[in-house]
Parts: sequence; structure tokens; C-alpha cells
Amino acid sequence: MDSLLEAAMSARSRAHAPHSDYSVGAAIETEDGSIIVGCNVESASYGLTICAERVAVTAAIAQGHRSFIRLAVASRNKASLCGACRQVIWELCGDIPITLVDESGNETLTSAGALLPEPFDNLTLKR
Ligand code: THU
Repeated sequence: MDSLLEAAMSARSRAHAPHSDYSVGAAIETEDGSIIVGCNVESASYGLTICAERVAVTAAIAQGHRSFIRLAVASRNKASLCGACRQVIWELCGDIPITLVDESGNETLTSAGALLPEPFDNLTLKR
């Protein structure tokens, strides 16, 4: 299997999801070939929960990466990205391919642009 998908599935096993019992892992590949992972981290104050995708991309930014090639998201049943993650991935990564993978390794390919049509972003502010 693709190493990016394996990284996302492995990160999923480290999710902290005691409230939803729904574990998600994410892995983002950078321009220089690095793979940075994230998992969802939940809070008893539910709204403070952080999704796996935003953990991965913000960790990558913190490690100095600025250019991203593709993203993989692993969950039990190939969940798609929530609205907040669609916005953040679009702004930080642009129109990258995104692979959703379930616990059996079944894949669906989509993209940041397909998941967030007519985005509001920095270009909107400058128009
Ligand atoms: N979750 C993610 O990690 N990524 C998404 O894009 C959708 C939702 C997490 C948040 C929460 O911990 C759990 O899934 C259930 O909503």
C-alpha cells in the first residue's frame, strides 16, 4: 500500500477520541517528500476537539514546511473532511489531491478544490 495511506492509518491508531469513539488519522506529503501525520484529539469541552487533518497540516507548518503535494485521511468508513478542515486545507495547501481510506484499505480519491467549490480565501480579500 501507498506509504502516505499507511502513515494515515498508523496515525489513526494514536487518536484520542474518548467522546465520539471515532478515530481519524491524516498524513500530508510535503514538496520535499516528508510525511507529517496527525490524529484527532478530543476535549471534554467538545468544541475544542481538533481534527486529524488540521493537526497534520499545522504540525507540518510548525516544522517549517510550506508546500504540500497530497493528503490522506484514514477512518473506519472513509469519512470525508469536515467543513473547517476543507477551508484550512484549501488555504494552506491549495488544490491538492486527497485520498480517503477506510479500515480495510478501500480508497476514494478527491481533491481540496472538489471538496470546497467557490472558496472564500486570500484571493477574495485582494480582488
Ligand atoms: N474528525 C476528524 O478528525 N476529521 C474530520 O474531518 C471529521 C471529524 C474527528 C473529530 C472528532 O474527534 C471525531 O472525528 C468525530 O466527529
